[in-house]
Amino acid sequence: MPIQKVGVIGCGLMGSGIAQVCAQAGFPTVVREVSMELVEKGLKGIEKNLTRMVEKGAITEAAKSEIRGRLKGTTSLGDLKDCNVIIEAIIEQLGTKRELFAALDALCPKATIFASNTSSLTITELATATKRPDRFVGLHFFNPVPVMKLVEVAKTIATDPAVYEEMVAFGAKLGKTPVRASDKPGFIVNRLLVPYLLDAIRALEEGVGSTEDIDNSMKLGCGYPMGPFTLLDFVGLDTTYYIANIMFDEFREKRFAPPALLKRMVLAGWNGRKAGRGFYDYSDPQKPKPVIF
Ligand code: CAA
Ligand code: NAD
Repeated sequence: MPIQKVGVIGCGLMGSGIAQVCAQAGFPTVVREVSMELVEKGLKGIEKNLTRMVEKGAITEAAKSEIRGRLKGTTSLGDLKDCNVIIEAIIEQLGTKRELFAALDALCPKATIFASNTSSLTITELATATKRPDRFVGLHFFNPVPVMKLVEVAKTIATDPAVYEEMVAFGAKLGKTPVRASDKPGFIVNRLLVPYLLDAIRALEEGVGSTEDIDNSMKLGCGYPMGPFTLLDFVGLDTTYYIANIMFDEFREKRFAPPALLKRMVLAGWNGRKAGRGFYDYSDPQKPKPVIF
């Protein structure tokens, strides 16, 4: 059956971006959060992005209204039961994701395809919470979703090849370049990116350089669009901490182990840009100031 309607679960950093690109690609999209306050916060972010696109002349005001018209926010899982594809983008915790997928499995028709935006869990661990591992894939987008052109599409040994190809084609319909990844924690990008980010924290802990100097070094010396600490704050330190723990559990290699400073910052609630404080202080979002440890 062709994909006619998309469901997205979670309307945080990633879920809001995923919902936006689905609606932009023409799919009626329902996005679910745990409270109306969070639904509204997520939709407000999308509204801001679309307004910026109108101001830049990337879309017309009429196109913006159409995109907004295709987007519906809800707190009820039941509102997603007629979606052909459901993309999960909630907290990076195995138990919470498995519970959600088990509930969705009981709710949705057999044909519905489930996808997870997980950064580091294996898709098999999630798919086995349902009775449809053949209709389950990884669909890993990148932050900020409306801008980043890549989507990793991951299959397990149980994924039906036809479903997999359908999801690769779906990624392309969203305007992304799909790459094929196997069901290994971190897929392709995070396998390489996460050790780099964690190493930057270790370098800071060891006094190799200051936050700003390490950031500037990688930006100006290597041409990266953001230095590692700006990127860590952008991804979210809580999310990075969960990812590091999951990858370390899997690989048992020191390069994936979360540094002590990261753990302490997460315990303190310094979760990066979304929390107003991480490696930088965002009291003035236009001029972030490095936090001195
Ligand atoms: N949402 C939507 N659009 C955004 C945006 C956001 N949050 N932030 C920036 N943009 C848009 C801007 O509107 C602008 O659009 P135009 O070119 O059409 O004008 C464009 O992006 C560039 O923005 P800026 O000029 O303001 O700033 P910039 O040139 O520094 O680019 C950036 C911003 C695209 C985020 C760039 O800094 C970048 O590519 N950073 C690295 C991001 C990255 O590495 N992401 C991957 C993270 S890892 C991950 O996602 C996987 C995981 O599992 C953790
Ligand atoms: P986030 O904290 O910004 O958002 C997660 C949202 O999910 C929160 O708003 C929370 O209220 C909501 N939520 C939790 N349980 C829910 C439920 N049962 N139903 C509906 N909503 C629920 O996190 P994020 O950065 O958007 O990350 C989400 C997922 O995407 C994680 O698996 C993460 O690993 C992955 N990811 C993150 C990034 C990144 O750069 N942050 C990039 C790629 C993938």
